Amino acid sequence: MAYSTLGYIDAVKELAASVGMQMPEWQPPSAQEAARRERETDLYGLMEKAMDFYRGELKKSPRAIEYLKGRGLTGEIAARFRIGYAPDDWQALKGAFPQYEEAALVEAGLVVQNEGKRYDRFRDRVMFPIYNARGAVIGFGGRVIGDGEPKYLNSPETPLFEKGRELYGLLHARDAIRAAGQVLVVEGYMDVAALAQHGVAHAVATLGTATTPVHVAKLLRLADALVFCFDGDAAGRKAAWRALEVSLPLAPDHKPIRFLFLPEGEDPDSYVRRHGKEGFERKLREAQTLSQFLLAQLRAECDLATAEGRSRFISIAKPHVQKVAAPALRLQLTNEIAQLARVAEGEIDRLLELPGRPRYARPAPARVRYAAPDSPEWSLLYSVLCNLSLVEHIDAAVLAAERAESKALLAIRDACREFEDEPSLGLVLDRLQGSPWLEIVLRAHRYAEDIRFSAEEAEIEFGEALVKLDLARRKKELDEMRGRGLASKEELRAFQEKNLAYKRLQGALPSP
Ligand code: UTP
Ligand code: MN
Repeated sequence: MAYSTLGYIDAVKELAASVGMQMPEWQPPSAQEAARRERETDLYGLMEKAMDFYRGELKKSPRAIEYLKGRGLTGEIAARFRIGYAPDDWQALKGAFPQYEEAALVEAGLVVQNEGKRYDRFRDRVMFPIYNARGAVIGFGGRVIGDGEPKYLNSPETPLFEKGRELYGLLHARDAIRAAGQVLVVEGYMDVAALAQHGVAHAVATLGTATTPVHVAKLLRLADALVFCFDGDAAGRKAAWRALEVSLPLAPDHKPIRFLFLPEGEDPDSYVRRHGKEGFERKLREAQTLSQFLLAQLRAECDLATAEGRSRFISIAKPHVQKVAAPALRLQLTNEIAQLARVAEGEIDRLLELPGRPRYARPAPARVRYAAPDSPEWSLLYSVLCNLSLVEHIDAAVLAAERAESKALLAIRDACREFEDEPSLGLVLDRLQGSPWLEIVLRAHRYAEDIRFSAEEAEIEFGEALVKLDLARRKKELDEMRGRGLASKEELRAFQEKNLAYKRLQGALPSP
């Protein structure tokens, strides 16, 4: 999973494929699904072929080669990133695809169909192929040579390419990221290429979109530290703030996220060309931590010398601190805020409206299991947060519908279902932003962090809670039967049978 930044299922599939095996499907794909996959396979083939074509065209275009050289890229780096050139011709791709009328070319985003006319999307541009983690070409970014609009033309969203999920250069940066123990997130294709040219190979770029939770979660799975590098201008600050907001719920205690701002007018490309690898790495050490950046931005908006300014400081800090899920990071942040706002540390939790520590934090997990929690639903909630794979076993029918815990559980389950990969807790928490159940989920999350169940302990706790719910349901049914009166022999027998099953089930639970 870490090596290819894939989810569990995809990782198993890839591993199996690499030794010539096929992962068994637990359900045969529907005809529709099979057709979709086949079409996808075709599209991958088209993209690969187009990439080869563009590379061949680059070799034939002195102008494009000159442009890349002028930007300081060697042939070696161009080859490494499979950079190509789309000729200045409306239907150049006919050279690669004799069946130019094929609908798939439009679906792949390579050809545009407009009022009965068909033409290449990319013309007279330097082409950067975009790879997914499995090494398949899923899109392109094409840069004009010299000036022109738009500066970069990107593939549209296609069945293969979803911009908010992909990062440019990830495939090539993977080993370097592991070696460096960190990943740099920059804004542009050229930044990635230029950094690699100067020996800084652990950089990836977002694809002309803002940073998304999927980006951050993907990178945190791969690297122990994350550094966002932004241009020093207003646009860079804005992009950094967005990245910060996305990172707050995902930032783990043990993996630092930092922000580097380059001087006004510089981007990583120009900076590394001017100052070299050492200069860039020196600059990198100046990166601010997430909490430094957050607090600096908030402080800039308030006058901490006045009581009103300090109150405002607390109130604008509140929504951000509330998003932080990592307990130690959150504690550090609240302590700093308390100091800056001159508030006692005991008061700040209340002012920031952070739910307090759960009342029943207990010392050892082994004992926790038998101490009566609030409700079975609460147990289900925190055991799911200890072991997300349990989420699949939640059954709405057994939950007491009116309880907030039940609603939170169902919200978690729905959030999980939105991710095709194994969802991480961070992604789920991010998805729940703005949900009325977020607060109780965060409270349960903090409780889960306190008790530190192993996956197995969580499963046991979860199972017991389900049994308790089942018992409650059965008891209710028995009471109703008794209330109706057990007039006939049949009714009496049915009652006795159910009662016996109930007693047996009761015996399955450990004694309190
Ligand atoms: P920038 O405008 O900062 O360009 O866009 P750059 O990376 O410095 O490019 P060079 O150095 O002039 O070649 C940053 C990123 O935003 C996206 C691209 O992904 C680009 O790399 N972008 C920019 C677009 O998608 N379209 C555009 O028209 C401009
Ligand atoms: Mn640039």
